[in-house]
Amino acid sequence: MAEQLWKGRFSKAVDSRVNDFNSSIRFDQRMIAQDMKGSGVHAAMLARQGIISEQDCEAILSGLASIADDLASGALEIDPAAEDVHTFVEQTLTARIGDAGKRLHTGRSRNDQVALDIRLTLRDYSHTLQGLIADLVRVLCKKAGENTASVMPGYTHLQRAQPITFGHALMAYVWMLLRDLERFADATRRMDAQCPLGSGALAGTTYPLDRQFTAEKLGFAAPCPNSLDGVSDRDFCIELAAAIATCMMHLSRLSEEIILWCSWEFKFIELDDAFTTGSSIMPQKKNPDVTELIRGKTGRVYGDLNTLLVMMKGIPLAYNKDMQEDKEAIFDAVDTLELCLKTITPMLDTMRTLPANMRRAAAKGFINATDCADYLTKKGMPFRDAYKLTGCMVSDCIAKDKVLEELTLDQLKGYSDLFEEDIFQAIDLVNCCEGRTSYGGPTAASVCSQIELAEAKLADWEEAQG
Ligand code: ARG
Repeated sequence: MAEQLWKGRFSKAVDSRVNDFNSSIRFDQRMIAQDMKGSGVHAAMLARQGIISEQDCEAILSGLASIADDLASGALEIDPAAEDVHTFVEQTLTARIGDAGKRLHTGRSRNDQVALDIRLTLRDYSHTLQGLIADLVRVLCKKAGENTASVMPGYTHLQRAQPITFGHALMAYVWMLLRDLERFADATRRMDAQCPLGSGALAGTTYPLDRQFTAEKLGFAAPCPNSLDGVSDRDFCIELAAAIATCMMHLSRLSEEIILWCSWEFKFIELDDAFTTGSSIMPQKKNPDVTELIRGKTGRVYGDLNTLLVMMKGIPLAYNKDMQEDKEAIFDAVDTLELCLKTITPMLDTMRTLPANMRRAAAKGFINATDCADYLTKKGMPFRDAYKLTGCMVSDCIAKDKVLEELTLDQLKGYSDLFEEDIFQAIDLVNCCEGRTSYGGPTAASVCSQIELAEAKLADWEEAQG
């Protein structure tokens, strides 16, 4: 078993059960690159400040580089018995370079070290996730552009309500995802604002550290101004988890729609065979498992956010071991969203839309009833009366198994003299959709300008990435 860093104070080795219980190497080893990056900068700063010698610094840097090389080539494996990734790196380094390795931890604690490592790791993950969200936005915009004329019923209460297009519906998700992108960028900006390295265990250090130098070299705007907050702040995990949970909620809503849309009851879309699964018993089945899993995994990500919030709520200053629990929760949230985005994007890219079925669904359900009432209103009838009269017409039509546009002009005139030949234009489904010219509406022109706007937002985001 690997030796404890804090062995001197104790007369016995730690019980192996406690060691297993305490160890975080299983889930913090994924921060090893970031841990070594932080150590390299810390060592360089110690040397600049004359706290360690240049030779020691060089030995540390080349030792760290050799560890990185050996990990990459497979010549070195992470010891699963090490307490955590920080211990593993320090002990491996010391085994390779001797005393210089033992000087690396001067003026540093694992408390500020881990606070730094998580920030550096989540910064990388956030960029990956943002890139994947942007990919999804591009696919949705492409599909929306192909479906600006695909009239379908828009729903409220899952009841057919008013005509929209499939393109307009997809763009609604684009706007949700663009807000997600902003949320990730915002959370990441705050994460990168303050560097905890140099906070020490909790109360700083007596060594003349240059915290400005390490903060800048590690890509932070400044060192954090309070050492207690520096080691015990996990707001950035919570903020990222909240952004992830919100994005999962959006993917889950979209998934729910896909599930409905590809059912025989709707059949607005057909998923590619490669993105569906069959049944072991029912030969006809083609199941949208991907979307169901996304819906299911959303609950689990909410759980991760809740874990972090509850974990933090009773923690007195400064570091407490409870905080080791942050990593499994936030990494699970990150991994889950990454997996979902990587799967849903090609699934949507390859799905086939079935506009004829959308149009058929739009023809039923009286989604042009508002337009009929609006027609009468524009001819002078007060809206409330027009609304009531159209309601009666709908009710009569239901009894006769007809739709409004199947009534003859004579039948229409039986309800009101205001009806003229132009009513048929007014309640034509395409016209009803294209007539909704208010800003942000479902017309082809509106969907096209939404796509342009969304692409401009993506370009801004891309530019901000540098
Ligand atoms: N593995 C620990 C964590 O993830 C590192 C910090 C340990 N600090 C300590 N005081 N025991 O939080």
